[in-house]
Amino acid sequence: MSTTPPPLRLTCDDAEATRGVGALVGRFAEPGATVLLQGDLGAGKTVFAQGVGRGLEAPTVVNSPTFVLVNEHLGGRLPMRHADLYRLDDLDQITELGLDQAAEGGILLVEWPERGQGALPDDCLHVHFSPLADDVSEDQLDASPRELVLTSNGRNAETLLSQLAQSLSPVSA
Ligand SMILES: Nc1ncnc2c1ncn2[C@@H]1O[C@H](COP(=O)(O)OP(=O)(O)OP(=O)(O)O)[C@@H](O)[C@H]1O
Ligand SMILES: [Mg+2]
Repeated sequence: MSTTPPPLRLTCDDAEATRGVGALVGRFAEPGATVLLQGDLGAGKTVFAQGVGRGLEAPTVVNSPTFVLVNEHLGGRLPMRHADLYRLDDLDQITELGLDQAAEGGILLVEWPERGQGALPDDCLHVHFSPLADDVSEDQLDASPRELVLTSNGRNAETLLSQLAQSLSPVSA
C-alpha cells in the first residue's frame, strides 16, 4: 500500500533555481507522467517547463505555447508535450486537444490546468507557484523568489514526488 507523500515546499530564489527543480522532474519522470503547473501570469510555469526539457535532454527550445496550445518536444529521453490552456475557456475545445491521452509514452505539462478540469489525466503532479515578494524592481526580474508547492494525485505522481523529495533532501551523515 502506498502512502501519499506530504507536499514538498521549495523556495526558488531565481529563474535558474526554478529550472533546476523542473530538470529533476525531467530526469525522474516515468512515461505517462502529467505535471500541472498552476500560478498567475508570470509565476514561472514556462521557466519550470524549460527545466523539464533540460532534464529530459530535449534538443528543442521550450517556450510559451500560448498561441499554439500544445508544443511537442521530441528527441529527449521521453517525448514531452507542453500545453497552455490560458486562451481556452470552452471545455469542448480543450477536450478536442486529447490531453487525457497526451501523456501516453511521454510527459505532459499543462499550464492553466484549472481551465481543463475533467479533460486531463487523473494521475498528476501539481506544482503551484507563488511569488514571495509583492514588488519586483526591473533589475530583479530574473531573480525574484517563488515558493513552489508540489503535491501528488495518484500512484505515478506519488512515486515521482517521493523521488523528488528524496533527491532534494539534505544527505544525512
Ligand atoms: N524564482 C523565479 N522562478 C521563475 N521565474 C522567475 C523567478 N524569478 C524571476 N523569474 C522571471 O519570471 C518570469 C516567469 O515567466 P514565465 O513565462 O515562466 O511565467 P508563466 O507562469 O509561464 O506565465 P504565463 O501564465 O503568462 O504563461 C521570467 O521572466 C523569469 O525570468
Ligand atoms: Mg507560460
